[in-house]
Amino acid sequence: MKISCRKKIAVDSKKDAIIIPVYKNIRSLKNITGKKIDDELQNIIQSDYFNFDEKESKSFYIDVNKKLKKIYIIHIPKEKGEARFYMELGAKTASIFKKDKISSFSLISFEDIYNEKKDLYITKAFLEGFMFNDYTFDKYKSKKSPEYFFEAEIITAMPKMKKYIDENTDRWNAVFTNINIMKDLINTPSNYLNPYDFTEFVKNNIADNVECIIWDEKEILNNNMNLLYNVGKGSVNKPYFIQLKYKGNPESDKNIALVGKGITFDSGGYSLKPASSMAHMKDDMAGAALMFTLTKLISELNLKININTYIPLAENLIGANSVLVGDVITSASSKTVEILNTDAEGRLILADALYFATKTDPEIIIDAATLTGACVVALGPYCAGIFSNRKFLSKQISDVSYEVSEDVWELPLYADYEQGIISSVADIANMSSFTREGGAIHAALFLKQFIDNYPWIHIDMAGPAYLEKSHPVFGKEATGFGLRLLYNFLLTHYSEGENERH
Ligand code: BES
Ligand code: MN
Ligand code: ZN
Repeated sequence: MKISCRKKIAVDSKKDAIIIPVYKNIRSLKNITGKKIDDELQNIIQSDYFNFDEKESKSFYIDVNKKLKKIYIIHIPKEKGEARFYMELGAKTASIFKKDKISSFSLISFEDIYNEKKDLYITKAFLEGFMFNDYTFDKYKSKKSPEYFFEAEIITAMPKMKKYIDENTDRWNAVFTNINIMKDLINTPSNYLNPYDFTEFVKNNIADNVECIIWDEKEILNNNMNLLYNVGKGSVNKPYFIQLKYKGNPESDKNIALVGKGITFDSGGYSLKPASSMAHMKDDMAGAALMFTLTKLISELNLKININTYIPLAENLIGANSVLVGDVITSASSKTVEILNTDAEGRLILADALYFATKTDPEIIIDAATLTGACVVALGPYCAGIFSNRKFLSKQISDVSYEVSEDVWELPLYADYEQGIISSVADIANMSSFTREGGAIHAALFLKQFIDNYPWIHIDMAGPAYLEKSHPVFGKEATGFGLRLLYNFLLTHYSEGENERH
């Protein structure tokens, strides 16, 4: 979406429509809409025809300089609310515009309406909601939906607002370009995106300022990543391991490690999933898609930060050569693991990747994975589980989560539950003897064995990465969950020089 900003006044708008946010008894908006529009607006909202109790926004044609101009009047509360409210409004407006075939619009800034001069989050939230809805996945349909290229022009009378919009539009576009790439990767069926295809996509789409190392099956074995190898060996599409290195702050040794689960299809293996649970297991690489697009975004915006990203990729299938239940495998860390359930494969490939992540002495390790159905049972589909071995980190990520309206909730790493993953033949088992009880916690406790007590955040996004029931902002199927969350988290707490959110 193209976003621009103009100082005053809406009467001059050359766009298809003008959006005017209003609340009951709103003062005259003459200084920002121009007298003509303000007069008409007041006529409309004071007429019997207009009812502020109605939820839906209405559109009207008004006569501006002898031309009919379409205006959309959207209802907002008199007191400003949370960002997510305006995101939802933005997402709804995008749906209406697609239906009404409006591709360009002027929007009176919410900050102007509220006379808000300091905390400039509202218009941004509206645009973000709009952009979340500005996505279609029709690559595999013969009949494509009409292509939209939306243009938004923000109208403000506040110099500070204009400066804020002008300074940030490129970044917002970069964020949503990458969110859409992440969604495309997750929505792509497994027959079009196997581990090798994923590596090709990364190679062809990552900027030159990122070093890209790709290990095939042989190098995986040479580097003792036997867990990754064993999860992937049952498929003809062999496993791969990607490392991305971005040095945005070469003077510093500090670095961040990112790890993302990349199972391009999860059948469960010999511990086969029932058909209904397998339905959307093409999404089991959402963590990998997240960490790839996050690294890509950070490198494109040249953030002053050093990132090492680790992406283990495999297809979890049944085959003559598949890993068997009861097999004992020596991990890259040299801990031995008993495979009690081949469907608990995510923690296996992550364990080998996490081991490599500890080798650069990182300030923090963050992993993201569609790891357990149990996490979805605990928190529902819209919220991710987070775990951390440092209290301050779970607090920091929770605060950012609230600000970006991508919900996470902390779950505990109780040591008492570690007895669940004790194995009688190996150092550790990949499934808990508590079976389904506290499944997300046991998976996290398993990962914890491989992080060498480095500061660590684990995000179990089995719920929100891919939705079967549509969410008012994030829609359905791949959502892009986590990109704004981690981008803003890294920007706020780890990027040097620039630590203001934008
Ligand atoms: N990929 C699944 C988890 C998942 C479930 C993701 C639902 C998205 C939606 C994972 O590999 C898995 O199968 N986990 C098992 C673990 C169990 C066997 C210990 C699960 O959650 O049932
Ligand atoms: Mn599984
Ligand atoms: Zn899985």
